[in-house]
Amino acid sequence: MRVLKEVDVDELHLFRGRVVEDVVSSGGSLLLPKGSEIHAVLESVPGITRTLKRWGIYSVVLDISFNLSEEDFNKIIENIEPKVRVLEAALAHKTIAQVDEVYRRISENGSLGEGAYMLAKQAALLTEEVSRAPQIILCLGRVRESDEYTFVHSLNVGLLCGYLAGRLKPGDREFAAAMTYGGLLHDLGKAKVPQEVLNKPGRLSEDEYEIMKSHSVHGDELARTSGITDVRVLSVIRNHHERWNGRGYPDGFQRDEIPLFARIAAVADVFDALTAKRVYKDPLSSREAVSMIMESSEADFDRTVVRALLLSVGLYPPGTMVELSDFSVGVVIGARNADLFRPQVHISVDGKGRRAPEGTIVDLGAQQELFVRRALDDVGKGVAYKEKAV
Ligand SMILES: [Fe+2]
Repeated sequence: MRVLKEVDVDELHLFRGRVVEDVVSSGGSLLLPKGSEIHAVLESVPGITRTLKRWGIYSVVLDISFNLSEEDFNKIIENIEPKVRVLEAALAHKTIAQVDEVYRRISENGSLGEGAYMLAKQAALLTEEVSRAPQIILCLGRVRESDEYTFVHSLNVGLLCGYLAGRLKPGDREFAAAMTYGGLLHDLGKAKVPQEVLNKPGRLSEDEYEIMKSHSVHGDELARTSGITDVRVLSVIRNHHERWNGRGYPDGFQRDEIPLFARIAAVADVFDALTAKRVYKDPLSSREAVSMIMESSEADFDRTVVRALLLSVGLYPPGTMVELSDFSVGVVIGARNADLFRPQVHISVDGKGRRAPEGTIVDLGAQQELFVRRALDDVGKGVAYKEKAV
């Protein structure tokens, strides 16, 4: 990845890096060619800093990123892995298999049978896990690769619904478990949508879109005939596509008419869809997805729920590459005290552009004088790195 830094001419000797643009005198002579390594220039042209200043050049932009290759980044991520708790793979896969089973039963017999009971138990287990280690919801990408999208999506929406419920009604475990259960079943009606519509890459025709939309009503009917009576779960299934401005479906409810449970599920559903990798689109990072949801929250979502999402995901989720106020660069490894705005950062490059000693960790929660200047793009998270203009 590329890290650019404007450096005072008098401090050039402190940095390792390459000149980003040709530095030319007002008379047209080339003083510093683009791409030259600054240390090599300083050694071979001893009077260069004086010459630069004589021409009124007091700073030079250097590319100091060679200190942080993608390989380095991946190494850091590997090292911090134990600090970031991951939802136990067995629990994730068991849930996915159970959702799969429920869908199969629905398609074959039109009823959830035993599956509903098992899934409710599983929802309670997941809620426990999430309340113990909220960071696990940030690590869901790991199970995406190997399983079918709909089921993985159901697991993620279930976890996020449970977590958001916990944020909105702290301490109410029963509510969180019901929301997790609702999230696991929210797309139940998709069992009735033909595979070719469900998995069509790219744009749906108008007719196909109508069929797709029918999943919310089908889901509601299927859940009721299967004996689900919890209105929270039923409203998640039926109303998770309602929008704050009334432009959603199937009932066109707006604002407070939309049950709170469905408003929570709407945010969880969209967040997971944006961060998922699909055949036809690259995933967004958590940070990008939250910003996008915040932008459309006026029209689409309940702002209280969006705020809860922001607090749960944080501006700088683990794995985000950030530049701190002292210009050091590192990778976010988590946050103590649940303050996701002031994370702990594994520093790779210090403020002078030099490699930081192995294992340098800055805890912004404890070091109030430092702050995150900006997030650099998310290398190593499956998102193609886009160069930032500095
Ligand atoms: Fe849906």
